[in-house]
Amino acid sequence: MGRAFVYVILGGGVAAGYAALEFTKRGVAHGELCIISEEPVVPYERPALSKGFLLPEAPSRLPSFHTCVGANEESLTPKWYKEHGIELVLGTRVKSADLRRKTLLTATGETISYKILIIATGARSLKLEEFGVTGSDAENVCYLRDLDDANRLVKVMQSCSGGNAIVIGGGYIGMECAASLLINKINVTMVFPEAHCMARLFTPKIATYYEDYYISKGVKFIKGTVLTSFEFDSNGKVTAVNLKDGEQLPADMVVVGIGICPNTGLFEGQLTLDKGGIKVNGLLQSSNNSVYAIGDVAAFPVKIFGETRRLEHVDSARKSARHAVAAIMEPSKTGELDYLPFFYSRVFTLSWQFYGDNAGEVVYYGDFSNSTFGAYWVNKGHLVGSFFEGGTKEEYEAIAKATRLKPAIDDLAELERQGLGFALAV
Ligand code: FDA
Ligand code: NAD
Repeated sequence: MGRAFVYVILGGGVAAGYAALEFTKRGVAHGELCIISEEPVVPYERPALSKGFLLPEAPSRLPSFHTCVGANEESLTPKWYKEHGIELVLGTRVKSADLRRKTLLTATGETISYKILIIATGARSLKLEEFGVTGSDAENVCYLRDLDDANRLVKVMQSCSGGNAIVIGGGYIGMECAASLLINKINVTMVFPEAHCMARLFTPKIATYYEDYYISKGVKFIKGTVLTSFEFDSNGKVTAVNLKDGEQLPADMVVVGIGICPNTGLFEGQLTLDKGGIKVNGLLQSSNNSVYAIGDVAAFPVKIFGETRRLEHVDSARKSARHAVAAIMEPSKTGELDYLPFFYSRVFTLSWQFYGDNAGEVVYYGDFSNSTFGAYWVNKGHLVGSFFEGGTKEEYEAIAKATRLKPAIDDLAELERQGLGFALAV
């Protein structure tokens, strides 16, 4: 026996929260919508976990960052879901899905059926074990994906004041956690295999700016190598890390951010997959008409790339969620999603935004010595990507707008001369 709903959202992260808000805006009836989540709390703004949550003074704590506060919308608390007649099945993992029968089986043995399923299962952190290193379960090795991880990280950090942290990975988690560790008075060494940080997005010149800033704060970088093993004490705590180049670094704690793996497992063999995620069309609809996918787990067509991509960022989770609900509730009025990729980060007092695609030739502008600078990417004669550090709301809006319009650029030197002025004038 079990329960039946018209709409079921599987997963209770960022995309689920924004989808729920959109459902209510479009008039979902009480009792029609259910959210099933392995997490014990209602959806929250995951980005807070590597920023405000880790501050030593006045850290952010729930309920202050439930969705949808990140988009200046109301905060959806458990009371809000109750008032809107949305059923919450929290702390409950779905262990199998039968898309032919339109049912989900939970780990507690309940069968939940749907007419329309929205998959919002996000992703899990990749583990060191997947790269041949054992020791992830040591008490002072931390990952960061959910609230449990964040609580654990805070506890470990508090026990390591003045000690040494090794940060494995030079991506978003590595950079944001390194900054937070330092603010918590912990010495930080970052280790990653690439030649510079944020290799998926930054050019060497942009990366150098941030690395130099981190170095000025006391962070050490060890690049072009990877972790091969840990040293443990008799209690199983990590005491040092061994690197491939032979170096050994003492460690009181380790933070690992080496990428993610989308949670597609329940649907393998039932849905078409692409780019490691669930392939959907511009309406976020999968190869099964009754099943949609949103957020980190969805691979959707992105016009500026001219192909299907999976994006691992909060803005695409929010917008894909809203679009899927629009397509479900008002199909005749909803066209294909035309999404402009948007990524951002905030560390120390720095803050950058990026829009579009980082393909083609790069034109830099502004002053790299005083925290206000930017870059444009020009591909096949058109502006396709924009990056800016230290901007105002209006300046960020201007680079977003200019990138969306993809203006023709025939003189790179002139674009460099105009700098931010080019975007402001578009
Ligand atoms: P999300 O991971 O948020 O949610 C997935 C949900 O599904 C979870 O609740 C999970 O428990 C649940 N679930 C999975 N399998 C299940 C199952 N079988 N049964 C039941 N439930 C299941 N982006 C950005 O643009 N700017 C930023 O500053 C940051 N900062 C940031 C910090 C940290 C620490 C992280 C981990 C990530 C970010 N991100 C970010 C990325 C951003 O948070 C991410 O893109 C969104 O959370 C994706 O939203 P989803 O809803 O797709 O997945
Ligand atoms: P990432 O993909 O940003 O970075 C992964 C990093 O892992 C790479 O830069 C590389 O340096 C490193 N790496 C890969 N293999 C390695 C190995 N064997 N040994 C050591 N290092 C290795 O992923 P992440 O930093 O783990 O972030 C996880 C997810 O959270 C991503 O989806 C990211 O977009 C998201 N996130 C986003 C933000 C943001 O947008 N501001 C902030 C935090 C997290």
